[in-house]
Amino acid sequence: MATRVRWLGHSCLLVESGGQNALIDPFLTGNPKAASGPDDLPADAILVSHGHDDHVGDTLAIARRTGAPVVTNFELGQWFKSQGLEGVEGMQHGGGLQVTPSFHVRLTPAIHGSTLPGGGYGGNPCGFLVTCGDGTRIYDAADTALFGDMQLLGEAGIDLAMLPIGDYFTMGPDDSIRAINFIRPRFVMPIHYDTFPPIEQDVRAWAARVKAETSAEPVVLEPGGWFAIP
Ligand code: NI
Ligand code: MN
Repeated sequence: MATRVRWLGHSCLLVESGGQNALIDPFLTGNPKAASGPDDLPADAILVSHGHDDHVGDTLAIARRTGAPVVTNFELGQWFKSQGLEGVEGMQHGGGLQVTPSFHVRLTPAIHGSTLPGGGYGGNPCGFLVTCGDGTRIYDAADTALFGDMQLLGEAGIDLAMLPIGDYFTMGPDDSIRAINFIRPRFVMPIHYDTFPPIEQDVRAWAARVKAETSAEPVVLEPGGWFAIP
């Protein structure tokens, strides 16, 4: 079966490949756009991009229920360990790990903040380059501004990129178009928009611009929707 991705609202994504599930930034409780609660999602790995509440979300509860390893930066990893989680992979940017047979994960740079839940230094925020067992490559930029080294990430050959378009806390639509032209993915999915008033966007207008101004195909889902990567 093809690798497929489910958007659960905001930046929460479920990647299903080879019968395994990687859950990214599982902010469900308190997320007005969440398509699922935290109690019924599968996870063989949980990827957390930075320490803000709208990304850490329900990670502790889901990790305790599933026993899935949490993959994140070193400092946030130390915090997860302090909460009693085992199997935490506290990595750093540029580093990669075969987390499960279906998911190799590399931490990529992101320009953003990363306070720990409850305050404290949360290390540097990251994105994720996920290479699936079937060779599918997925890049989740997570919360970030545009940066020029996205061109280097594009050299890997990206099948699907997830990019924030909400503006205010991350890049907005204009810079997302520039990012797509740096990364050159086959498909691009918008995230981190419409959850709260400061990040409301016209996603149809964004999709029209992607078609007109880039070589990528936009993938706009309703929360809960799936996209199978062809
Ligand atoms: Ni953030
Ligand atoms: Mn965020």
